[in-house]
Amino acid sequence: MPITEWDDSLALGIEDLDQQHKQLIGYINTIYDAVHSENRQEIVQEMIGNLSKYADEHFALEERYMEESNYPGLDNQKREHKYFIVKLLSLEAEGHDSPAAYAEVINFLMSWLINHVRRTDMQLKNHLRP
Ligand SMILES: [Fe+2]
Ligand SMILES: [Fe+2]
Repeated sequence: MPITEWDDSLALGIEDLDQQHKQLIGYINTIYDAVHSENRQEIVQEMIGNLSKYADEHFALEERYMEESNYPGLDNQKREHKYFIVKLLSLEAEGHDSPAAYAEVINFLMSWLINHVRRTDMQLKNHLRP
């Protein structure tokens, strides 16, 4: 059972950014679905590696769209994107083999999806199509 799913309320209408947000949901579900897996630690480790690459590419592209459209919320976006990268690195360094640490990874990603993708990123939609 996925913990979260894509729906149209998450669509910015910019194809490559929408694909990347779908990819993020895929990573979160892979981590969540690993809960009872014997290889949970390896799976989470691999997904954190993927997320770190993902974050570099996705944030750069998203910020480029914002720059090109003179988006007034760009500084706030950059601040939140930096926070994501720093937090992800610290989760990676702390390890995630205990149930509490594993739950912290999921909680962090779900709150990112709700607070950043669903709120902060979706504000861009109104800016591009007022
Ligand atoms: Fe985003
Ligand atoms: Fe963003």
